[in-house]
This record gives sequence, C-alpha cells and structure tokens, in this order.
Amino acid sequence: MYYKIGLLFDGPNMEISKVEAKYSDQQKKDTMEQIYKILSKNHKIVKIQVDEKISENLVKSGVDIVFNLSTGVRGESRQSQIPALLEMLGIPYVGSGILAHSLALNKAMAKEIFQYHGVPTPAFQVFQTGEESFDTKLTFPLIAKPACEGSGFGIHKDSVVYDEQGLMKKVNELLGKYEPPVLVEEFIEGREFTVGVIGNGKNKRILPILEIDFEDVPEEVGKFYTFEVKNDFGDQTKYHCPAPIGSALEKSIMESVSRAFDVLGCKDIARVDVLVKNDQPYIIEINSLPGLKPLHSDLPKMAVVAELSYKELIMEILDVAIERQIDRLPEFKPKVINL
Ligand SMILES: Nc1ncnc2c1ncn2[C@@H]1O[C@H](COP(=O)(O)OP(=O)(O)OP(=O)(O)O)[C@@H](O)[C@H]1O
Ligand SMILES: [Mg+2]
Repeated sequence: MYYKIGLLFDGPNMEISKVEAKYSDQQKKDTMEQIYKILSKNHKIVKIQVDEKISENLVKSGVDIVFNLSTGVRGESRQSQIPALLEMLGIPYVGSGILAHSLALNKAMAKEIFQYHGVPTPAFQVFQTGEESFDTKLTFPLIAKPACEGSGFGIHKDSVVYDEQGLMKKVNELLGKYEPPVLVEEFIEGREFTVGVIGNGKNKRILPILEIDFEDVPEEVGKFYTFEVKNDFGDQTKYHCPAPIGSALEKSIMESVSRAFDVLGCKDIARVDVLVKNDQPYIIEINSLPGLKPLHSDLPKMAVVAELSYKELIMEILDVAIERQIDRLPEFKPKVINL
C-alpha cells in the first residue's frame, strides 16, 4: 500500500550571488537523497527539482502529496512559493502553509504576532527607514539585525549596541545592506536553546531541547550565534542535548515553543530558537523549514537523543502530515505485484 509522493528539492545555483550557496546546495542534495531512500521503501517517490517549470511538472507527476524541501525560487516570500502553488493545484503537502512560512521568514512580523498572543519575545522596535524616533522604553544593550535574513547574515559582534548613537549607526548600515526592515530588540544575556517540533495541535512531539554553549568561543567574535561563530567557530561551540536544565524550565520552554508554533500557524515541523534569562524563555524566531541533513542539522541530532532513528524521524514527519490531511488524500493504493 503506498502513496505517490513528490519529493521537491532546490536545484543548484538558486542563490548564486551568495558565497554560502555552493555549500548549502550540496547539503540540500545529500538530504534529498537520504529522504528519497527512506520514503521509497514504502511509497512511490517522484523527485522533482524546483525551477520555473515546477507547476507543469507537478501536474504531470500526478502525485498524491508533496514532501517539500524547497525554499522557493527567489524573492522575499520565497518559502511560500511552493505551498502557494500546491494550494492552487490542490495537492496536499508536508509542512507549514503560505502564511506561516511568510511570517516565519519575517522576524518582525512573527514577533508582532507573538506579542499579540502573549508569547514571550524580547521587547523590540522595527525600523523601515532609519527616520523613526527611538523607542526609549527599550533598555540597552540592544541587538540590530535584518528582519528577513537567516543563517546569521548580518549578525556580528558589533550588532550589539550600547547607546542610541551606536544603534542608529548600525540601523542605517543594515538598511543600506539588506532589504528593510531592520529589527532591533533587547539583547538577552543568558542561555541559548533550539527546540524541534513535530506534529500538530495537542499531539505535538517536542524533541529533546538542544543548548548552544558559547563558553569556549573567543570574545572577539561575540559570545552568541554570530555569522563568524556559525561558520568558523563550530569546533569551539558546544552543543548539549538534552540541555542540562531543570524540569520547570524545560516545561516553560516547551510551552512557549508550542504556543509560538501554534500562533504562527505552523504545521507538521519547525525548529524554534529560544533565549533564556532569569528562567524566563524568550522566543526569537521560528524556522519553518528546518534543515534535515542526517547527523548534521539540529533536528536530526535531537531525534537521535529521543531514540528516533533518521528513518523514523522522516516517517513521522510524513505521517503527521498525512494524518492532518487524510480527508484530502486518496485511499492508499494497492501495491502492484509483478508476477
Ligand atoms: N534578542 C537577542 N538577544 C540575544 N541574542 C540574540 C538576540 N537575537 C539574536 N541573538 C543572537 O543572534 C543569533 C542569530 O539571531 P537570529 O536567530 O535572529 O538570526 P538568524 O540569522 O535568523 O539565525 P538562523 O541561522 O537561526 O536563521 C541568535 O542565535 C542569538 O545567538
Ligand atoms: Mg536563528
């Protein structure tokens, strides 16, 4: 019994202008091949590379459901492009929908929603032009970052500012380099965690919490997840999973993460970044399309600690998506046996 599943992945050179593109292309390809191997044991898998012909190729493929690994082709709402197309074509898919991906990609919008729903997030101000007057309710130090980037782009030691003059200088520098807006938030000097979520509603599985420890990272690159730390100081960055925290803190992190996932409208899978100061968790962002490279990405690492093999992790992600959309899926097809 099987489904016909479209495995959608990005082709090379989608973001050729970025230096990091080549490395991430290879990672994405490896991930796709691993997932292909796993899913093809129980289902019929059609690999589909995402490009401008994706719509036509999807229709031709006749797939029942899509396992999407693509971050879209280009543009500010790129992660929503594949979900939008699939929604238009009426094809169910694994993972978050159009709105949740768009919100997750724009940290400022995500924080407005968190704030509205009382999900704890650092106090913040959004700068569109640099002409805005500073909100003096914010307490220094602050961190300024591009609202719509990821992978540590625009995050350096000097992103942390200590007075209004330093802040406005940094805001204007970022506005000149990246698409607006610039997000400014109170800098939480505490511990950093990332949390994997699989599932929906009350049936979510929160994977063991992973702590990122910057103790051994040299002071000059910043003792937080700067671009430099992410890329050049991996060996000095320590990861603890499960995080060595008490059960009360664990519970409050899990509750905040689960609420953050729900209020943004995420589906099936996400990874949520959390800072903790004085036992208070603060949600800083949600990655709605988290990396799934075996043994390398955070989510598969957390799964190992939960005693979920990589195969079980992938199957579970597919299963929760199937369960959520079972009414929209055809009956399982009988497997054709060639005698
Ligand atoms: N308000 C804050 N207080 C303290 N540290 C922060 C704050 N915001 C961001 N950071 C630090 O900067 C890092 C990068 O920030 P953020 O997650 O917003 O950027 P990113 O580029 O989207 O990262 P990712 O690689 O997760 O996509 C965080 O992991 C954290 O170490
Ligand atoms: Mg982050």
